[in-house]
Amino acid sequence: MTAITKICCIGAGYVGGPTMAMIAKKCPHIEVTVVDLNEQRIAAWNDVDVTNIPVYEPGLSDVVAEARGRNLFFSTDVESAIAAAQMIFISVNTPTKTYGSGKGQAADLKWIELCARQIARVANDNKIIVEKSTLPVRTASAIKDILTHTGNGSQFQILSNPEFLAEGTAVEDLDAPDRVLIGGDNTPEGRVAVQALVDVYANWIPRERILTTNVWSSELSKLTANAFLAQRVSSINSLTELCEKTEADINEVARAIGTDSRIGPKFLKASVGFGGSCFQKDILNLVYIARSYGLSEVADYWEQVIIMNDHQKRRFANQIIKNLYNTVNGKKITFLGWAFKKDTNDTRESAAIYVADHLLHEQAEIAVYDPKVIKNQIYADLNYLQTRKEEENRKGVEVIEDPYKACEGAHAIAILTEWDEFKSYDWQRIYDSMLKPAKIFDGRNLLDADKLKSIGFQVRSIGG
Ligand code: NAD
Ligand code: UGA
Repeated sequence: MTAITKICCIGAGYVGGPTMAMIAKKCPHIEVTVVDLNEQRIAAWNDVDVTNIPVYEPGLSDVVAEARGRNLFFSTDVESAIAAAQMIFISVNTPTKTYGSGKGQAADLKWIELCARQIARVANDNKIIVEKSTLPVRTASAIKDILTHTGNGSQFQILSNPEFLAEGTAVEDLDAPDRVLIGGDNTPEGRVAVQALVDVYANWIPRERILTTNVWSSELSKLTANAFLAQRVSSINSLTELCEKTEADINEVARAIGTDSRIGPKFLKASVGFGGSCFQKDILNLVYIARSYGLSEVADYWEQVIIMNDHQKRRFANQIIKNLYNTVNGKKITFLGWAFKKDTNDTRESAAIYVADHLLHEQAEIAVYDPKVIKNQIYADLNYLQTRKEEENRKGVEVIEDPYKACEGAHAIAILTEWDEFKSYDWQRIYDSMLKPAKIFDGRNLLDADKLKSIGFQVRSIGG
């Protein structure tokens, strides 16, 4: 195969947009077209003001500004982009199924299948198809099955190239990843396809960081890498409750554990619970796959990571209620942060949503401030739960664009996201404007508790 000069990516979301922008930046000789059905999203990627791109990631607008219009294009013309490309990345959403068999656990592959069928319909020459979305192990065989029955004789090679970027650090993760993983068939054609993708990444990534495996190992490694990461968070969070009973301090425990080089210090930050679009869905998917092979002990083992996470979110909400004298009815509770982590505007599966829902059941009045999340997203997140009427969510939750105003007259503040700016607020001013006793529930162990206590706050940290 000749070197790749035209790439198409289906799906202009949190993965497709940043990943393709980085490929375009690093490979000016490759024309990269990112397509999506969502016209609004594509318009935002094309906005003349590059700071209006739909994904907030530190440094991303610079990368887009450099390549857009040169060799990076965003379009809704899916078919033309598929027809023109030698290599097609599929980077569409693969959420948990909400209906039918596997509901609540299996990945919904409807969008993947639609992509495969569209490629089959449009392609009139040989193509390399790259699974960029996170997929259940053995999905490549389903994609292959759809593509090989198109009848027009085109040949397809399916590669698995899962993405390991984390939101909030996407640009640095893409610029210098720990590794790039490429799975392909161990056939002469498969090896040629793998090499073509290796050559794309080798434009900026040292060759020893590009791992090649068979397709199934690659697909399974992505699901299990996320499961391992989430397991660490649930493991440390499980200890927070024990710390609270025993006067051990979770930050000290995490440090003591993490300095063992075999364990390592990362992903040991206690929190209100992990969120994000992938940890929960990928573990549920892993559990579903294990069960479908009859491996109930394997399934139960990984399911516990989710059970602990749900417990942690509920426990945080219950602590607020208990500490506010067992009732939050009519009490203003201010949420600082709504995103599932700092430096992103993504709110999918954010712990804040579930904590708010729990408190709304108890008739609390919630005020929310988040530096990057827009008002409508917050209401959409709550409405999606379908636990009460939309008007009730609007009535129970006020989104306020000024953090000081958001805290005025509050009984309590809950820190749900670890945004850096919260640390530098004028906490004396906030204290003065609140009802007393003024309480802070720090769901991220972000703030300096001793300093806050010296101002007069009552502070509850996680595992402290
Ligand atoms: P997303 O929802 O932000 O983006 C997916 C996009 O695909 C949407 O804009 C949607 O309109 C588009 N789409 C769906 N079907 C389409 C079709 N047939 N034709 C054209 N466009 C279509 O999702 P995301 O966060 O970018 O995740 C995509 C995949 O990457 C998922 O499988 C996810 O598990 C995986 N992943 C996500 C992250 C992350 O940090 N978000 C990291 C690694 C892997
Ligand atoms: C995660 C993985 O880190 C990425 O490698 C992976 O590509 C991605 O999922 C995916 O497949 O979508 P992401 O969800 O963007 O990335 O963010 P993380 O940094 O992993 O954080 C996930 C959640 O865990 C956040 O809510 C975060 O606050 C929480 N967390 C993380 C903790 O509570 N404690 C920690 O020590 C680390």
